[in-house]
Amino acid sequence: MTLYSSGIAPVGTICDLRSDTVTRPCAGMRAAMADAEVGDDCYGEDPTVLRLEAVLAERTDKAAGLFFPTGCMSNLAALMAQCARGEEVIVGRDYHVYADEAASASVLGALSLVPIPVAEDGGLEPAEIRAALKPEDVHYARSRLLCLENTVGGRAVPLARMAAAVRTGREAGLSVHLDGARFFNAVTALGSSEAELAGLADTVSLCLSKGLGAPAGTVLVGPTPVIAEARRLRKLLGGGMRQSGVLAAAGLWALEHQLPRLAEDHARAARLARALIPLGTVRQGTNMVFFTPPVQNRAALAARMAGQGVRISDPGEGAIRLVVHRDVDDAALTAAIAAFESCL
Ligand SMILES: Cc1ncc(COP(=O)(O)O)c(C=O)c1O
Repeated sequence: MTLYSSGIAPVGTICDLRSDTVTRPCAGMRAAMADAEVGDDCYGEDPTVLRLEAVLAERTDKAAGLFFPTGCMSNLAALMAQCARGEEVIVGRDYHVYADEAASASVLGALSLVPIPVAEDGGLEPAEIRAALKPEDVHYARSRLLCLENTVGGRAVPLARMAAAVRTGREAGLSVHLDGARFFNAVTALGSSEAELAGLADTVSLCLSKGLGAPAGTVLVGPTPVIAEARRLRKLLGGGMRQSGVLAAAGLWALEHQLPRLAEDHARAARLARALIPLGTVRQGTNMVFFTPPVQNRAALAARMAGQGVRISDPGEGAIRLVVHRDVDDAALTAAIAAFESCL
């Protein structure tokens, strides 16, 4: 089994800890999707999409929002909307935009990604940003944008840490994009307002299909001219959808019903971490636990756990990322802990 194994969940799966993207829409969310008022969004006529975009723009105190099918496309459009061909994006080496988006900004946007080390708390050090900046010189690409992420591997990066990085970028004239795939986990953990966190960046990708449990969708929020350009880029990238209100309705439902309960996921992740401490090395933040089992137990662990109805990513060499989400209730977590205890 690999991290992205594509098989149907085996019959008898009690608990799937591979990712918070594995959730399936519950009855309430499906009802909201079925009832959604829809229109052709490429004509700007889907009222549910327009409402979702407006709601998230208002909550994050941005001028405009734009609904994308995925977080990858939203991040890519945000970068392309704010950088010209050949310009540079400074980004954390472990951040999704650099590490996990198939170099799309380079392949499709002709942008140069400059990866810098990510600090222990998931943030970027101002000194590293300064070192990556290029002076104005015909020999060099132009440094144009700073790309941040929050949460980072489950860690909610404190606002003050982000603000220091942003200040450094702004002093050099950079725009700032925040990959907020788990933005709502971050604000839940930090106790900050959505506007406070979003206010640090020009543009923010807000995923609905991770902790919020919607089947698809990311809203990019930002200034009106940037979002207008992102709309053109969304079409160029093949992401203009038609009656996408059925998806936007799931997002609106998730904001109302899933967002208020994200703290429960974080509490369950903390419970899982406490239970794993006697069994290996553990780090936990928000809804994620990174667990390193003893070397001798690694090889067959995922298969043995699956045999007990608990799906985890293949440990490989490093830590196993275990992600708690809406479909992991107390009983499922108890079963997962029991499976770890019996397999290790
Ligand atoms: C931090 C982060 N950013 C962006 C994405 C991309 O989202 P999507 O899978 O919707 O393209 C992911 C996906 O898991 C992610 O974890």
